[in-house]
Amino acid sequence: MSYPYQIKSLEQYHEAYAQSIKNPENFWGDVAGHFQWRRRWDKVLDWNFTEPKIEWFKGAKLNITENCIDRHLENFGNRPAIIWEPNDPEEHHRIITYRDLYNKVCQFANVLKNNGVKKGDRVCIYMGMIPELAIAVLACARIGAVHSVIFGGFSAQSISDRLYDAQSEYIITCDGAYRGAKDIPLKSVIDDALIGNRTVKRVIVCTRTRTAVSMIKGRDVWWEDEIKKIETLGMTDCPAEEMDAEDPLFILYTSGSTGKPKGVVHANAGYMVYTNYSFVNVFQYQPGDIHFCTADIGWITGHSYIVYGPLSAGATSLMFEGVPTWPDAGRFWEIIDKFSVNILYTAPTAIRSLMGFGLGPLQGKKLNSLKVLGTVGEPINEEAWHWYDEHIGNGKCPIVDTWWQTETGGILISNLAGITPSRPSWATLPMPGVEPILVDENGKEVTGEGEVSGNLCIKSPWPSIIRTTYGDHDRCKKNYFSTYPELYFTGDGALRDAEGNYRITGRVDDVLNVSGHRIGTAEVENAINMHAGVVESAVVGYPHDIKGQGIYAYVIYNGTHGDEALRRKDILQTVTRIIGPIAKPDKIQFVSGLPKTRSGKIMRRILRKIAEGETENLGDITTLLDPGVVEEIKNGKI
Ligand code: WTA
Repeated sequence: MSYPYQIKSLEQYHEAYAQSIKNPENFWGDVAGHFQWRRRWDKVLDWNFTEPKIEWFKGAKLNITENCIDRHLENFGNRPAIIWEPNDPEEHHRIITYRDLYNKVCQFANVLKNNGVKKGDRVCIYMGMIPELAIAVLACARIGAVHSVIFGGFSAQSISDRLYDAQSEYIITCDGAYRGAKDIPLKSVIDDALIGNRTVKRVIVCTRTRTAVSMIKGRDVWWEDEIKKIETLGMTDCPAEEMDAEDPLFILYTSGSTGKPKGVVHANAGYMVYTNYSFVNVFQYQPGDIHFCTADIGWITGHSYIVYGPLSAGATSLMFEGVPTWPDAGRFWEIIDKFSVNILYTAPTAIRSLMGFGLGPLQGKKLNSLKVLGTVGEPINEEAWHWYDEHIGNGKCPIVDTWWQTETGGILISNLAGITPSRPSWATLPMPGVEPILVDENGKEVTGEGEVSGNLCIKSPWPSIIRTTYGDHDRCKKNYFSTYPELYFTGDGALRDAEGNYRITGRVDDVLNVSGHRIGTAEVENAINMHAGVVESAVVGYPHDIKGQGIYAYVIYNGTHGDEALRRKDILQTVTRIIGPIAKPDKIQFVSGLPKTRSGKIMRRILRKIAEGETENLGDITTLLDPGVVEEIKNGKI
């Protein structure tokens, strides 16, 4: 497969960028011409950010799996599509060629059909990182069902909320999942999530850990048994459902500054075109390269750069079940040498954590197959950038710092590996088709000659922009398109230099980024407040050496149970139950009051500063209802 739209020089980048802004319809129409369509579009783009209503490749018909699988079969059906490395290095890896993937996806798509799943139905997927997860995702896409993958670190309560929000009738899960030394009982979590649920009709359970599970008659079936049924019926192929360009492809829940997570909806055609385009250009993928994205498919990075981007490009995507530090901190490096990985795409958190183990785990590792390194999910500090460059890239691999979001579907700001210049801790230039703009609090564009800073917005749509939040379009409008009229607001702050390079400085709303995972402070507070002894709480982020941000909770407690240590544990347990272990506060400080304005608003700015270790410059505290509480909080800091 060749990529005629792959940018090959800095000059070509500038040319493509200029074209894409001058005439987006021509630009994206040309790119889209290299995909397989059942019917071409009537119009490339129709949009307004007011409603918002965004339609790409209007009138076109396609199936994304024909682009990710079928079209590769004739010329390179034997090429590995997915290389799977298990958690335990002693267990054998698996190689799934495009031909195998075709067979398995068709087979499982038939299983879904046989179990009553129809086009448009929402299917919740809660699995570990095994090839069957990718197969399940693609099988949904093949029959036009809308997948909603939930990360294995979310609790039963979180799953239950998502099932309800998406009105899912079908679940695909595993008996359990291996992650490092842990064995996570996924099916049992699903069972808890389903207590009282009357909507879910079928749970398909794939065998992985052979943990004991309770299979409920009439509701739960084994993946393997269902496959056998399909084989007995002699159903090998599964014709791909013809989808409209704008039909939803998937829902992925993500945290915002208020309330419960939102179901971000992506549409078939635009998402396909943009994840492919960004994959091929940012990583400068060459046919035959082995691409290793270490994210979990439960997050957008896994959706876009393990599954859809690479597979639509006929690439070989490496999928790893385990964690970077088990059985030891050399696991990534061992995998890179084992499979001669060419592209490594990981999170700054992982880099920082591995840095902490020193150079020992790198001993004897060659890493000489690597050509391109990437980071995603959070700002990367210069120290981690240089360590990555020197010790992993051996000073010869360009590092792409890719900025994007669940809502953007694909990478929006990044250097292109080896083509446009990189700069430590800067995401640098926008991708073709992406028009960033910085605004101040009042929505006024920030201009200026030198370095400027502001809130990062995007002026016009790119093909994989969020279409709606599931079941509540108004929420999508309010969250992303209303803060600044006619702009998509990212929630991030950024700097821009005189050359137009961007440096993302972090969230400007109440969203935390903990180990590259997005968590809303309001969400954590709600979970803490569920604990019977808690009166009120306030959650802020603070700088954390490895996680990027840690979670600091100030809690007013009036319960009588246990001592402070036990109360802390109880609160952690509550958060684990309500959201999941990923949202557990790192620090809990018990306080007698919170700094509030006379109108009752918590002054988070003050709490943030105290959590950061600032004691002097807390700003004006005279407007507080009870300024005395600040002194107490300062003295009790953990
Ligand atoms: C942050 C992950 C700095 C940012 C793909 C954004 C980054 C949020 C970068 C989205 C980067 C992502 N540099 N910050 N290269 N990439 N972020 O939805 O705050 O899980 O808004 O998508 O991560 O997180 P999400």
